[in-house]
Amino acid sequence: MEVRWIGVEPVRLGPPHTTCGLVFSLLLGVWSAQALEMSVGKIPFLQAVNGSTVTLPCTYASCIGIENLYFNWQFNDNGTMQKVCESVIPSEGVVPDVTIFRERVEFVGKNHQNNVSILLLNITFEDGGQYTCFGRNPKEHHKNHSAIFNLIVVDELREVDNTLTIIIASAVGGAIALLMGFMLLKNFTLFVLTKLEEKNKECLVTSSGIDNTENGLSGSKADSKPTPKKK
Ligand SMILES: *[C@@H]1O[C@H](CO)[C@@H](O)[C@H](O)[C@H]1NC(C)=O
Ligand SMILES: *[C@@H]1O[C@H](CO)[C@@H](O)[C@H](O)[C@H]1NC(C)=O
Ligand SMILES: *[C@@H]1O[C@H](CO)[C@@H](O)[C@H](O)[C@H]1NC(C)=O
Ligand SMILES: *[C@@H]1O[C@H](CO)[C@@H](O)[C@H](O)[C@H]1NC(C)=O
Ligand SMILES: *[C@@H]1O[C@H](CO)[C@@H](O)[C@H](O)[C@H]1NC(C)=O
Repeated sequence: MEVRWIGVEPVRLGPPHTTCGLVFSLLLGVWSAQALEMSVGKIPFLQAVNGSTVTLPCTYASCIGIENLYFNWQFNDNGTMQKVCESVIPSEGVVPDVTIFRERVEFVGKNHQNNVSILLLNITFEDGGQYTCFGRNPKEHHKNHSAIFNLIVVDELREVDNTLTIIIASAVGGAIALLMGFMLLKNFTLFVLTKLEEKNKECLVTSSGIDNTENGLSGSKADSKPTPKKK
């Protein structure tokens, strides 16, 4: 357990290549399954106005290195995957020849720092949808890897932002109101319950007290009555 933790920890801190080697040598088989990784970044979607030019980001990372890495970009058109572009990268740092199948597409990543991003020019509403960045490294038994990026084409950025903000605000506001209402209701119920309980206890105490006094009185009466009789 400790060895694993030490092995995993430097991934966040150190430079990728040394940590890859370190982690790889430590975890061997466990890690080899994740040798190639395609990534579209931390935010896998973009909202853009029609007519604008956008970058669809994608990079790859490999601990064991690449050799004739095949990659493509695919567009999900109503369930059918349409190839946007494809190429084979002989090795890292080499600018590959990319075949482009779609209009208004440019390969801008140039494999610079494992960058296989593409540019969509003058986007139309039809360009909106799901794009898959796909990679396959022959070095690891032709396993498929991919990452999905969503492009949302809008008329005007502000409108959508506002509606989104309003939706989020009202959702959050509603949730808070609901929570507060629930808390209030809970507190009120608890308050009522405690009060009722107190009252019940009071009732019990008073009634038993009365009973006791009555018993005591009657008892004392009963006691006192026979005592004088006995005396
Ligand atoms: C975007 O679409 C709207 C509505 O179809 C249109 O009026 C506008 O001219 C378009 N903008 C661009 C830059 O193509
Ligand atoms: C996608 O599907 C919708 C509804 O099924 C249809 O209206 C639209 O024409 C289709 N688009 C393409 C490009 O096939
Ligand atoms: C990849 O290349 C594109 C175009 O040059 C650039 O906008 C993007 O920031 C690059 N991404 C990374 C992760 O370097
Ligand atoms: C994009 O639109 C601009 C202005 O509308 C035009 O000059 C340019 O040729 C267009 N580019 C492509 C690739 O369609
Ligand atoms: C990998 O992708 C290819 C298509 O590019 C497909 O034919 C093959 O079945 C996939 N392999 C796996 C293991 O998913």
